[in-house]
Parts: sequence; C-alpha cells; structure tokens
Amino acid sequence: MKIERNKSLKSHNTFGIDVKASEFIEINSEKELIETLSIHKNKRIFILSGGSNMLLTKDLEALVLHIAMKGITTTIQSSNSVLVSANAGENWHDFVQFCINNNFGGLENLSLIPGYVGSAPIQNIGAYGVELKDKFISCEAIHLSTGEKKKFTKEDCNFGYRNSIFKNELKGKYIITKVTFRLTTKEHILNTSYGAIENALKEKNTTHPTIKDVSESVIAIRKSKLPDPAEIGNSGSFFKNPVVTLQAFEQIQKSYTNIPYYKVDEKSIKVPAGWLIEQCGFKGKRWGDAGVHTKQALVLVNHDNATGQEILDLSKKIRETIKEKFNIVLETEVNII
Ligand code: EPU
Repeated sequence: MKIERNKSLKSHNTFGIDVKASEFIEINSEKELIETLSIHKNKRIFILSGGSNMLLTKDLEALVLHIAMKGITTTIQSSNSVLVSANAGENWHDFVQFCINNNFGGLENLSLIPGYVGSAPIQNIGAYGVELKDKFISCEAIHLSTGEKKKFTKEDCNFGYRNSIFKNELKGKYIITKVTFRLTTKEHILNTSYGAIENALKEKNTTHPTIKDVSESVIAIRKSKLPDPAEIGNSGSFFKNPVVTLQAFEQIQKSYTNIPYYKVDEKSIKVPAGWLIEQCGFKGKRWGDAGVHTKQALVLVNHDNATGQEILDLSKKIRETIKEKFNIVLETEVNII
C-alpha cells in the first residue's frame, strides 16, 4: 500500500476544500485495513470515505485512510426478501441504482445522496420520508486501535435523526467496512407520501409507480433543489432541522403564520432550518466564494476557492442571526474538522 505525502484532499471532499494530508493511503480491502492499522499503530489516523459530510478547515497532520473497498453480495431470504451487503467504499447512489436495477425495493427514496456506503449509517442518512435505519440489518466494523472486527445490529447502532452510536460513544473508534440491508423483491412498499414525490409522479401521469419511478422522481426533485457537488462544492444540509417546544413554536407562529413545521410529539415541533435561514435573508447570498445556495438555504456552497474557515465563518454568522431573530440554536449536521 502506497503512502502519499502532502496530499491535497480537494478531490476527496464534496465541499472541494483544498487542504493537505501529511500522509494518505487508499485502502482497498479489509485485509489492507487491518495490516495498515497494525503497521501504523502509533500514528494519528483520520478516516475519509466519500468526504460528503465534512468541512475541512485545516491541513491534517495525520495518516488519512481513504476507505475504498468495493463489492456487493446478495442472499435471497424468502420469496419477497433479500439481504444485500455492500462494502464501505461503494458509492451510495451507485449502490441504490444496483438495487433498483435488480428490482430490490426499499432504498429508492435515498437516491442521489452523495457519499459512500460505509459512512451512511454514521449519520443515518435520510430523505423524502425514509431513513437508512428503516432497511438496515447490520454492519461490520474494525476497531481502530485493536484491529478487531465487530458486527453491529440495528439495536446496537442507536439510530436517531441524523445520528447513531458512531457519532457519540463510539466516535472515532471504529471503521465501518460493510453494511447489510433487508430489501423486498416483489411486493415493494413504496413511500410516496412526501408531497414533492406525489407531485412528481402525478406530473408523469404515473398511477402505479415502480421503485424505478420513485427513484427517478427523487432524482428530479434533488436535482431541482440541491447543487451537484461535481459542479459546486457543498455537503448537503449544513445544519439539522431544529426541534423546539410547542410553546416556543407558537410564539414564532404568531408573527410568521406561514411557517412550515412537522409535529414530533405533543410537546415538540421540528422547524425547517432552510426556512429560518431564508427568513433571515441569507438565501442566495455570497461572501467571497462562500455562499448560501439559491434554491435551498440549508445548503452552504463553495463557489470556487473558499477556504473551510470562510465557510465556517459564514455558518457562524447564520447561527448567530437565527439565535437573535428566533431564539433557536442551530446544530451543524456536517462534521467540522
Ligand atoms: N424551505 C424554505 N426555504 C429554503 C429551504 C426550505 O422555506 O431555502 C422550506 C420548504 O419550503 C419546505 C421546508 O422548508 O416547506 C422543508 O424543505 P425541504 O423539503 O427541502 O427539506 P429540508 O427539511 O430542508 C431535509 C433534509 C434533506 C432531505 C430533505 C428531503 C435535514 C437536515 N435535511 O431537508 O437532507 O433531502 O429533507 O427529505 O433533515 C441532507 O441531510 O444533507 C439533506 C439534503
């Protein structure tokens, strides 16, 4: 395995931030991973997969392991159920397309999410009414300091909204190498209740949608709202949608009667951060090369050569303004490095 030194990470993070790693190794198998960990025991290790949920703000004085192992296996379970396992370095969207092409249903709403399979469970990726946890069965991971392999069941992972044990108690301790999902092969349970999907299917005059139709609708919606990282650097939603008390929500609603919201339970309401940011006038604005996307204010963008620090400064300005105007504290969704 070749060590590259002073390696630019610009093409390895979807924000397109040009920082350097002091050392960098591409890992193509579990065996290579275990060997590398044992050879470089005393070094600071940094795990990089698709780089789609991070903001790099400085050079990394670390051995960066780029997890790139590929491979998908399937095991038919019953007449309507299949277990599909993908290695961590598979591109998430390509994996979803593999499932759709094989008529395996369940992940179609998660089409076009950037990133790799291995990092998907860490933040329990979700979109258009479906979260990874809904189809997740287990994942395998290697312990960073002992090199031991462990299998995590769904219960072990403690999944929540954009959250899991890998973002909390086990943060930085394990490297996920393989993820397994249970999908349907015949009687697919489609989730088309999300308004925008319903509308897209109606526009296409699709009365009996297939998983491919749902995937195509999701792709069209995402393309119309979210910037393609290949064209403009970004990490999807920069903040989480905040959950506020019913009381706090009603207070805001008095002045903003059209505020969109989702009820979480009797006492709490989730408010779209994108709406809050738009209300504060940030949508489509730009400071140098750091900006807020024109079609979705929850997405911060790198127009060309912004530094991570410039994007971070913009995010702080947004957080302070939202706190001042709405008394809501936004939590970042992306990892700040
Ligand atoms: N809105 C605005 N202005 C904006 C953006 C949104 O008013 O600039 C309003 C919309 O009109 C809508 C509401 O906010 O009423 C929600 O917007 P949208 O449907 O675009 O979804 P979101 O809550 O902003 C979340 C996820 C996305 C996911 C979509 C669809 C989070 C943090 N983000 O965004 O996930 O694709 O729902 O399910 O939960 C990601 O995690 O990176 C991501 C893109």
